Amino acid sequence: MGPSPVTLTRFILEKQAAPPGATAEFSALMAQIGLVGKMIAQVLRRAGLVNVLGVTGEINVQGEAVKKLDELANDTFLKVFQHSGLVCALASEELEKPVHLPENWPHGRYILLFDPLDGSSNTDVNMPLGTIVSVLRYEGTGGLPSEPELIRKGTHQVAAGYLMYGSSTMLVFTAGQGVHGFTLDPGVGEYLLSHENIRMPRAGKVYSANEGNYHKWPPGTRRFMDYLKTPDKATGRPYSARYSGCLVADVHRILLDGGIYLYPGETDKPEGKLRLLYEANPLAMVVEQAGGQASTGTLRILEVEPKGLHQRVPLIIGSREEVSLAEQFIQGMK
Ligand code: AHG
Ligand code: MN
Ligand code: MN
Repeated sequence: MGPSPVTLTRFILEKQAAPPGATAEFSALMAQIGLVGKMIAQVLRRAGLVNVLGVTGEINVQGEAVKKLDELANDTFLKVFQHSGLVCALASEELEKPVHLPENWPHGRYILLFDPLDGSSNTDVNMPLGTIVSVLRYEGTGGLPSEPELIRKGTHQVAAGYLMYGSSTMLVFTAGQGVHGFTLDPGVGEYLLSHENIRMPRAGKVYSANEGNYHKWPPGTRRFMDYLKTPDKATGRPYSARYSGCLVADVHRILLDGGIYLYPGETDKPEGKLRLLYEANPLAMVVEQAGGQASTGTLRILEVEPKGLHQRVPLIIGSREEVSLAEQFIQGMK
């Protein structure tokens, strides 16, 4: 049996896996996101050979050291999309301000908010990395969207997805009609359908968190972690820990096998680490579309009203059962 012959483009056109009324345009957009992924994957495959490891010496708007690969991934996005005629604005975790395309350039209706390279600490050690994209549509009449029009609640996303650079490169996305996964076949240079209509298990057996932060967490979060490590009455086994340092890879495992990922708020840093618009919102849309749940501990992620482009948010995401339980512990009900 050879691989599936269903390419990303064919799937979108045939299965209506696009936001209503936008099939051709959306399929062009996804193809360009796929291209960004192929270009980044190509660099990553040879990263140890071509002087792209390590840092640039810059500190980004997040206060984090910029890796050469962060910059390269960000530039790839800009190069692919600036003249594509598909977007009207781009905002990135790596850029302080959004990029508004000049009036005389070709424009489309889409707005992309992205984390060009997720899991940057993995770059120099050949571990998995990702790219996360949130897609909005500008419905305003005349002119280009202003900055507040990019700072929308997650429920306004028309599509969201990620690329994962692991042992294979995958593109996983939703346009509000289920979650679909494609694997890049490097031989033919196409993303081929490998995971149609992904449904998350209701509960899992894995947790993913940077437990080194345990003593910085508030009591409810710590009690939840203690619970996860308590042997199950029936099986005698506790949850298993799996943490790669790449949110995309950790959430991808949970999307397929169930369980919970958490990067909670800390007593001295209640907003947590992860970014609402570039990381939490798009992954929350994917996970909800697959039957899972995403929460701050007290609020549905997609309902958080953002106040700024680079806002951070605690993220608790995964199977319904574990996320609901985490909320109960965090809210002091357990
Ligand atoms: P980024 O590389 O885009 O800054 O994101 C890193 C994120 C995420 O991928 C990961 O889950 C988490 O930060 C790791 O943080 P810690 O090193 O604090 O565990
Ligand atoms: Mn990230
Ligand atoms: Mn990043």
